[in-house]
Amino acid sequence: MNKIFVDACFGKETPYTPVWMMRQAGRYLPEYMEVRAQAGDFLSLCHDPKKACEVTLQPVDILDVDAAILFSDILVIPDEMGMDLSFVKGEGPKFSDPIKDEADLERLISGEEAASKLTYVYDTIKLIKEQLADDKALIGFTGAPWTLATYMIEGQGTKTYNICKKMMYSNPELLHKILRKVTDVVKLYMEKQIESGIDVVQIFDSWAAAIEPGKYDEFSWQYMVEIAEYLKEKYPHIPVIMFPKGIPAFLDKVYGNFDVFGVDWSTPMAFAKERLGDKYVLQGNMEPCRLYSKEATTKCVEVIQETMQGKRHIFNLGHGILPDVPVENAKHFINECHRVSGKK
Ligand code: CP3
Repeated sequence: MNKIFVDACFGKETPYTPVWMMRQAGRYLPEYMEVRAQAGDFLSLCHDPKKACEVTLQPVDILDVDAAILFSDILVIPDEMGMDLSFVKGEGPKFSDPIKDEADLERLISGEEAASKLTYVYDTIKLIKEQLADDKALIGFTGAPWTLATYMIEGQGTKTYNICKKMMYSNPELLHKILRKVTDVVKLYMEKQIESGIDVVQIFDSWAAAIEPGKYDEFSWQYMVEIAEYLKEKYPHIPVIMFPKGIPAFLDKVYGNFDVFGVDWSTPMAFAKERLGDKYVLQGNMEPCRLYSKEATTKCVEVIQETMQGKRHIFNLGHGILPDVPVENAKHFINECHRVSGKK
């Protein structure tokens, strides 16, 4: 059966414009909170294929999105490379022993050995594929090497990125060595996700905007493109979505063999369309906080539809949905995307 989401990723004509939401499996859903409580905590949920499968499917059943996204986290990669990951309540992710020097990097597990440790992810994918309807797509994902490296170097989320930027300007060779090691794991990790059954790949570069535009290619984009091109060469039938958040100044320089460019909410859709719309399908890009108001949501969906005209477009938010959004407003967003693009 044709998956309309996959068709749309390849720029084919579809009966309506498909939609999904970044972070669609998560805390705004009471059903998610229930399964997370049963699992004990977030990481245990990621490690439990049965429960991870269950929460992956929740937004498909509840909201009727056109694609499921694998329930996991970008930070399981450094975790399995040997960095001890924990999620501290209310504070987000933490690595107890961030990378300070070459010796710290040397200690980390590399390549195939690291990618092979993520079996719970591959098992989750296989379970999801048994249960997901044939006309829905399953999106697998990774963090971009740069975004992963920010956590591996800072040890946690950061507002200033001062530790990794100190490395960028005073010891760029070490930063490149970290990015190289992560890139090599990610290529194999995504290949194993594809072999396990995902239909689409998304690469999240959530902290792209922390890099000055003139350095973005060197420290992030080239590694993302390397991953995309490695996968496209082996698996041309699997679409690749790139989501670098907040880099409008780089749009004229975007290059590479991939299918969909994820537009974040700070970049006007018309601006992205003018620069990239002929070359890539565009995904996005409602400001996620519009979800607090149904009127603000409808307005934005109509404007995006007016701009994209249902061509070479996938509806999404311009970043992840927040935990305090009412479920009925999320449903409203999905319904409106389907309505304006003519879903019967
Ligand atoms: O529905 C989905 O999108 C699939 C699951 C998913 C999660 N994380 C689950 C999650 C995905 C695709 C991610 C990606 C991710 N993780 C990114 C890139 C996407 C983005 O939003 O920019 C980043 C930067 C992370 C790292 C991360 N994970 C942080 C900073 C945090 C804490 C902040 C927060 O949102 O709570 C997490 C935790 C996390 N990942 C949660 C979920 C559902 C919340 C954990 C919980 O249940 O308490």
